[in-house]
Amino acid sequence: MEVIKSARTMQRHAAELRQRGKRIGFVPTMGYLHAGHLSLVDAARPHCDVLVMSIYVNPTQFGENEDFDAYPRDFDRDFRLARERGVDTLFYPDTAELYPENHATSVRVEGLEEKLCGQSRPTHFRGVTTIVAKLFHIVHPDIAVFGQKDAQQAIILQRMVRDLFFPVRILVAPIVREADGLAMSSRNTYLSPEEREQALALYRGLQQAKKRVESGEANSNIIIDEIRSIWRQQPNLREDYISIVDLDNLEPLSQINQCALIAVAAYVGTTRLIDNIMIDKDGTHALKIKNT
Ligand code: PAJ
Repeated sequence: MEVIKSARTMQRHAAELRQRGKRIGFVPTMGYLHAGHLSLVDAARPHCDVLVMSIYVNPTQFGENEDFDAYPRDFDRDFRLARERGVDTLFYPDTAELYPENHATSVRVEGLEEKLCGQSRPTHFRGVTTIVAKLFHIVHPDIAVFGQKDAQQAIILQRMVRDLFFPVRILVAPIVREADGLAMSSRNTYLSPEEREQALALYRGLQQAKKRVESGEANSNIIIDEIRSIWRQQPNLREDYISIVDLDNLEPLSQINQCALIAVAAYVGTTRLIDNIMIDKDGTHALKIKNT
């Protein structure tokens, strides 16, 4: 596995690969790799000849009072895990090159970036779309894989790619969970053992919601209230949002008819966690989200 630090070098390398007819698969990450990140490598593999992973903690997607400085970083460990999983090229750029002095260009996906997580993190998705646009121009992937864990992110990026004619296909891979159901996240390392226990309520609430939908309940408010009542039993868990939305435009749905995204966010102590499930009654939308 080679490590490339310079964006210019990466861009030249990608151009050469494409000239030789190689299909480039891309998995962007912020590092501190866990099994969720590594599952994206497996999902990308069948679709590409050369697999590029990036590791870059992108400052512009963190709000002023968020955890940019505290965000966990361990390059040596990430290097080992990526190599073992079969990554061919690890792109490990630095901020001076990605955000040169006087950088003035950003990408916004209006109408989607303000919803769900955008309410409490108003500048977050603009940071994400801007860095991913840069990374796409540097890595030139044919396909890029993102996790359903960050469903809003994946939906926004699919819209960006469509609107701006990026020649890349975005695949969305399922959420990887710990044995007890907690969605894997680099931020789980912030949780104390007690908070870790309370954080499980996110998953429990979603499981209960799924069960209720499967047994015929279609009223979103009833389902949201049930999740809320499960959360209320945890003294250190504070709701950010519980939303049932349309998968394309993220607008709230009062009724769950065919498919919907049940997306939740909560603070456990000071750590903000997100999770979601997709309801897909006739099994068509899951494919749609994967194949766009
Ligand atoms: P990061 O949080 O490091 O996540 C990198 C990728 O891993 C994202 O596509 C995310 O959805 C996926 N992922 C994280 N946890 C997962 C899990 N438990 N199961 C499946 N996939 C999971 O998301 C980002 O970084 C950044 O916003 C980035 C896209 C790299 C732009 O900076």
